Amino acid sequence: MSKTIPDKLTNFLQMMLPERNELLRKIEQECQEDYIPLVAPETGQFLQVMVEAFKPKRILEVGTGIGYSTILMATTGDGWERHITTIEIDTTRYARACQNFRDAQIADIVNPLLGNASDIIPTLTDNYDFVFMDAAKGQYPDFFSKVWPLLNSRAMLVIDNVFLNGWVIDMTWPERRKKTMVCRVRDLLETLKKHPELATSLIPLGDGLAVSVRR
Ligand SMILES: C[S@@+](CC[C@H](N)C(=O)[O-])C[C@H]1O[C@@H](n2cnc3c(N)ncnc32)[C@H](O)[C@@H]1O
Repeated sequence: MSKTIPDKLTNFLQMMLPERNELLRKIEQECQEDYIPLVAPETGQFLQVMVEAFKPKRILEVGTGIGYSTILMATTGDGWERHITTIEIDTTRYARACQNFRDAQIADIVNPLLGNASDIIPTLTDNYDFVFMDAAKGQYPDFFSKVWPLLNSRAMLVIDNVFLNGWVIDMTWPERRKKTMVCRVRDLLETLKKHPELATSLIPLGDGLAVSVRR
C-alpha cells in the first residue's frame, strides 16, 4: 500500500464515501482474501464521478481484475446507454469477472476479452470516449501508444497507480528489477505533460491518477 498519501487523509476520504452495495462489498472482500488488486475505494468513486460527468457511450478498460471497476463504471448514473470493453490477461480472474458481470446484470453491456492488452488493443475496431488503464504498469507506454489512435476527440483517459508507491516521484526503486517499470511510468507522465493534443492533471488519489482529456 502506498504511503505517498498520508493515512489520515486516506482514512478521511474513505469515511466520506457513499455506501457500496452488497455485490461490490462481496467483491472487495474476495479481493482482500485472494490478494487480487482492485482500485482504491476513493479512486473508484472518482472514476464514477468522471463517468457520470462525461457520460461516455464507449468505454475501454485495460485490466479487468475480477470486474470491480467495470461494475462501478457500468452501474453509475441514470442508465444512459453505454458499452464497456474490458481486457484481462489472467484466465481465472477473467472467469470470475464474467460471473460478477452476470451477478451485476451488466453482461449485456460488457464485452470481456481474455488476453494480453498489448496484442488485443491493436485489433479493436471501435473508438472510445473513456479509457481506464489499470494493468501492468511497465507496459503503460505501450498501452498508451496503442490506445491513442482509438481515442475520440474529447475522450477522457484515466491511468491508475502512476505514483507507483511514490517511486515515480522520487525516482527510486526497492530493487533493480523495478527500475525499468518506474522509468517507463515516469516517461509516460512526461509524454502526457508535453502532448499537444492532451490536457493532463495528476491527482493524488489512491496510488496516483493521471487524468487526460483529448483536445
Ligand atoms: C489492478 S488489477 C485491475 C483491477 C480492476 N481494474 C479493478 O479495480 O477491479 C490489474 C489487472 O491487470 C491484469 N493485467 C496485467 N497485465 C495485463 C496485460 N498485459 N493485459 C491485460 N491484463 C493485464 C492483471 O492480471 C490484473 O488482474
